Amino acid sequence: MSPEDSGMTPSDWPLHGGQPGPLLARFGLADDMPLLDASANLNPLGPPAWLAGWLAQRLQGGGRELARYPDPDYREAREAIAAHEGVAPEQVLLTNGGAEAIFLAAALQVREWPCAPAAIVQPTFAEYARACVAHDLPVRPIPLAPPDFRLDPEALVAGLGAARLLLLCRPNNPTGTLVPRTAVERLLELTAGRGCRVVVDEAFIEFVGDEDGETAEALTPLLARFDHLVLLRSLTKVYSLPGLRLGYLLADPRTVQRAAACQPAWSVNGLAAALVAPLLADRDFTRRTDAWLAAERPRLAAGLEALGLSVVPSRANFFLVRHPAGRAATRALLPALLRRGVLVRHTESFAGLDGGWLRLALGDAEANERLLTALADVLQECLQTPQDGGSP
Ligand SMILES: Cc1ncc(COP(=O)(O)O)c(C=O)c1O
Repeated sequence: MSPEDSGMTPSDWPLHGGQPGPLLARFGLADDMPLLDASANLNPLGPPAWLAGWLAQRLQGGGRELARYPDPDYREAREAIAAHEGVAPEQVLLTNGGAEAIFLAAALQVREWPCAPAAIVQPTFAEYARACVAHDLPVRPIPLAPPDFRLDPEALVAGLGAARLLLLCRPNNPTGTLVPRTAVERLLELTAGRGCRVVVDEAFIEFVGDEDGETAEALTPLLARFDHLVLLRSLTKVYSLPGLRLGYLLADPRTVQRAAACQPAWSVNGLAAALVAPLLADRDFTRRTDAWLAAERPRLAAGLEALGLSVVPSRANFFLVRHPAGRAATRALLPALLRRGVLVRHTESFAGLDGGWLRLALGDAEANERLLTALADVLQECLQTPQDGGSP
């Protein structure tokens, strides 16, 4: 059964990666089937090895730590983040994952400009549109085109209309493309006079690395020049903590205060908050993550290209790929891979991609090898049955 004949409408597809249940059910596979999950973008090196012991120690003595409200200002965690980012603690708001930071950005916006549209550079993470809808902010899509999804600051600003909020993901989920710092700087110059806040979600910034001498070109120094810039971050991805959740928002102190006023008290649990400082201090974990990226990202990219897939050059820990025969052939790969025990991310829920691409997470060497082998098998099968694109 291929996606075309599976009877799935766009809303039937899970909205996020790491959700095999509905897909296994839809394609008639056992719900306890062992899977290689290449659909969620998490660092395979994490969580750090010391974390289990750290948590156990905190829970000793009858879990006294759990019976205490956390500091509502999260001073210690904010100071650790501020020192890490080279900003003042007043410029930091700790959040319950990057997801809460996105909703706070929308909540803040609706307080200031209740009816003004929010422009979203697409294709991108579906939570931006969800946050806008939840706060009654009309969405104005700003589409970028394949194959390179390049952003032209002048053209983008010309298309903003009455928008007072621009949401941009860097590097972008699901394309993996990184808008250069110079382009963001230009965007900030062009939007400054228009009263349009620019929110840049850098949930995957730790994965950008230093390829070809190009650095991540940190945007944090721009916070001092542009008070309409807001940066969103996640510690969930790089430390592989989706069950624990940590994120933060960086902005000028006034914006941080206003965003904090939209946040429920004690939104971040005490254990997660106490974890911020030791996580950021773990330089060895960062070094090992950089080494993994430097070795595995080019290797997986080359392997995917060698299989004849179109691969969008990525500065993140995932790749957006497409079968050269087009949308139907690409969509047919998902159930075929699933039958081989490999879960990849569909793109049905990404505006502009229309399901015609797949997103593949970068894993460790063994997982990447398994992904490439499964893809090679499935593509071979496609060649033998071109009519149905290799659907199982
Ligand atoms: C671009 C982007 N931002 C934010 C998030 C949410 O991060 P967190 O899990 O820390 O809430 C995600 C999760 O997939 C994401 O893809």
